[in-house]
Amino acid sequence: MALETASASTTVLITGASSGIGSEMARQLASRGHGVTLVARRADRLEELAAELAERHKIAATVIPCDLGDAIARAELIEGLRAGPALAGLCNNAGYGISGKLVGNDPDRERQMIELNVVAVHDLTVRVLPGMIERGTGAILNVASTAAFQPLPGFASYAATKAFVLSFSEALNAELSGTGVSCSALCPGPVKTEFATVAGSTMMEDSLPDFTLVSADEVARQAIDAMENGSRTAIPGMANQVQALLGRIAPRSLVLPLAGRISGH
Ligand SMILES: NC(=O)c1ccc[n+]([C@@H]2O[C@H](COP(=O)([O-])OP(=O)(O)OC[C@H]3O[C@@H](n4cnc5c(N)ncnc54)[C@H](OP(=O)(O)O)[C@@H]3O)[C@@H](O)[C@H]2O)c1
Repeated sequence: MALETASASTTVLITGASSGIGSEMARQLASRGHGVTLVARRADRLEELAAELAERHKIAATVIPCDLGDAIARAELIEGLRAGPALAGLCNNAGYGISGKLVGNDPDRERQMIELNVVAVHDLTVRVLPGMIERGTGAILNVASTAAFQPLPGFASYAATKAFVLSFSEALNAELSGTGVSCSALCPGPVKTEFATVAGSTMMEDSLPDFTLVSADEVARQAIDAMENGSRTAIPGMANQVQALLGRIAPRSLVLPLAGRISGH
């Protein structure tokens, strides 16, 4: 088992725990007895969640406010972890999207998104892996998206960041075979969180049928199952599994216009 049995001497670090899928993963890990380390920028939300989880599940919940898009803040976070409990798991969940055609989007915001969705995921993974391998146990979960399976006009850079996360995680899953450590890619389709508002997208209301929606609660459950089983990928929802398959095998000449129509671009 990649995610070891919950113990008072270990913790699972969840980035982006102040909202959406990250908050749900924290709740469910805590309900399974895991100590949790909650990371995001909004400290007030993290403190509130930590207090709720510690009270309800009698686990240790630690809060580390951090802008993961800032390389210095990230280095301090990683350094600070040395003094804490061993990491049983790392959920690289923090991320956001930017909708709209690339020309017209804010170039700085685009770069910051790549720093968070790609560089921070890579950085945290690379830095925690040696400790996990030394202990012979550990589970990394990187949150990709069904947007990873094909280019997505209207979300060009976002989809490319998630393609990185998927490719990186799948390769690592194979590289880590036999070490006791696993790396899984979680590929959610549309989930009602703050994601659409932050991305400036009305795609969920305008063009996605309800049957493609999966709740944050269900996505989190499948994420933690993937960590426990050391699965290579988890794609919550049948419709999303079909979309992922088509994204992988269908000719780009068919996929690109369809994807653009769904995203409204
Ligand atoms: N919802 C969907 O439809 C969907 C679909 C596929 C994949 N995903 C992926 O799922 C993950 C979670 O998204 P969500 O849907 O739960 O969205 P969300 O509700 O907007 O949550 C995003 C989380 O990321 C954190 N975050 C953003 N920028 C950060 C930064 N610079 N430093 C640290 N934390 C930061 C936010 O916290 P603060 O603002 O407090 O920092 C928040 O906790 C993302 O990687 C997203 O790309 C979402």
